[in-house]
Amino acid sequence: MRTITLPEIGTFEAWRDEARAGLGAGIPPEELLWHRGAGEADLFAQDAPTPTGSAVSVPKGFVDLARLVVCHRDPERFARAYAVLWALRSDKRLLEDRADPRIDRLNRMAKEVSRDRHKMTAFVRFREIGAPDAPRRRFAAWFEPTHYICELTAPFFVKRFGDMDWSIFTPDLTAHFEAGKLRFSEGQPRPDLPEDAAEDLWRTYFRNIFNPARLKVDAMQSEMPRKYWHNLPEASLIPEMIATAQARAEEMALSAPTLAPARAGKITERLASDRATPPPVGDRAELLAGLNACRRCPLWENATQPVPGEGPLDAPLMIVGEQPGDFEDLEGRPFVGPAGQLFDEVAARAGLCRDRAFITNAVKHFKFTPRGKRRIHQSPDRQEIHHCRWWLDRERALVKPKAILAMGATALESLTGDRRGLLKRRGTVEVLDDGTPMLITMHPSYLLRLPDMEKPAMLRAFEADLVRAVQMVA
Ligand code: URA
Repeated sequence: MRTITLPEIGTFEAWRDEARAGLGAGIPPEELLWHRGAGEADLFAQDAPTPTGSAVSVPKGFVDLARLVVCHRDPERFARAYAVLWALRSDKRLLEDRADPRIDRLNRMAKEVSRDRHKMTAFVRFREIGAPDAPRRRFAAWFEPTHYICELTAPFFVKRFGDMDWSIFTPDLTAHFEAGKLRFSEGQPRPDLPEDAAEDLWRTYFRNIFNPARLKVDAMQSEMPRKYWHNLPEASLIPEMIATAQARAEEMALSAPTLAPARAGKITERLASDRATPPPVGDRAELLAGLNACRRCPLWENATQPVPGEGPLDAPLMIVGEQPGDFEDLEGRPFVGPAGQLFDEVAARAGLCRDRAFITNAVKHFKFTPRGKRRIHQSPDRQEIHHCRWWLDRERALVKPKAILAMGATALESLTGDRRGLLKRRGTVEVLDDGTPMLITMHPSYLLRLPDMEKPAMLRAFEADLVRAVQMVA
């Protein structure tokens, strides 16, 4: 019996080399004892098999499968993978036989590892630990994977967070990314990491996307198992959210968007006062009257009411979003739904006082498709944006803002005629045709929809943009 001790860092590559050598030397699986050891020093110990020189060809599918399997926590994983490799010598099509218990077992192990990797990409939460004046920002996270996935999954974080330094500590291995280089050191117990500012943003985000009417506790816990909760800032809200879900769902049902008589009444009223051309707009009252009578595009037909901009007419900052959503359509005010709540929270952190700004939308009517009792948001098309620019131009003429904050591609299209490259243009200032400087940022609804991994960085960028907007009108 030969013992092969694989290192904790570079485990797969070491297993692959040892397996090739074992195969080349004709060593059957029952003669090899594998385990993952405590360090590189054990690698290629004296009793490693000597290759016979015959080249070993392995199907590509097997290499991909084995890469996942060797990350599994099953102590037999190396031996199981080697046994299949050995069997492949005489049965090249073995991998395709999913009913074979050896293949079935490896496939299931690979699936479990993949699921664990997915959880890691979704649930790692970085805390900022660097000095505020350091040239590169520094973050750290603690994560407890079920399998040995840290090494295999770290490149995902390199791609996503390549512009900062970070460490991900796990009990088995630690990944460090510093000055553009990824390296690993041994695992360690949970470090004491500070809470950071992004945690409030996570909680805000979670509160905003949580729909009590859709709560399925079992499904939620299978997606976000309890073992991860203590690392997730937003998880502290879960017990209370569950406890109050029923009451909140009932409250929502009472105020749910339906084809209510009041709404039908408003539409009928507007139909009666239909006017082909809105009057010239002189002041706010005229603007509102014109907007109420607007038939420039078909969106007025199904919306409850137009949603005009809101805020003082001498506001130095104008904020432009896309179009009213479900809540805004019913209330007749911009940014009062989930996107508005997220905006308000981030604005408060950025020192942007909403009451001192004029907040409006590129399109004034809610565009949606009905689905059951729900009304599903639809983006306005070019024509609709173009037609509604009439109203945005009048609002600009009334308010004469010192600067404009354009949130999202629709606002950008309305204000500049070109919606392309939003993320490239975000954080930059462009000068509009009348000389008004316009700062470009993302739309808060976009932030609400982002995959978990991308949220903290984007929320920080959004907050930085709002700070900049405040500075532009200071
Ligand atoms: N999204 C917008 O663009 N505007 C609103 O008023 C609400 C959501």
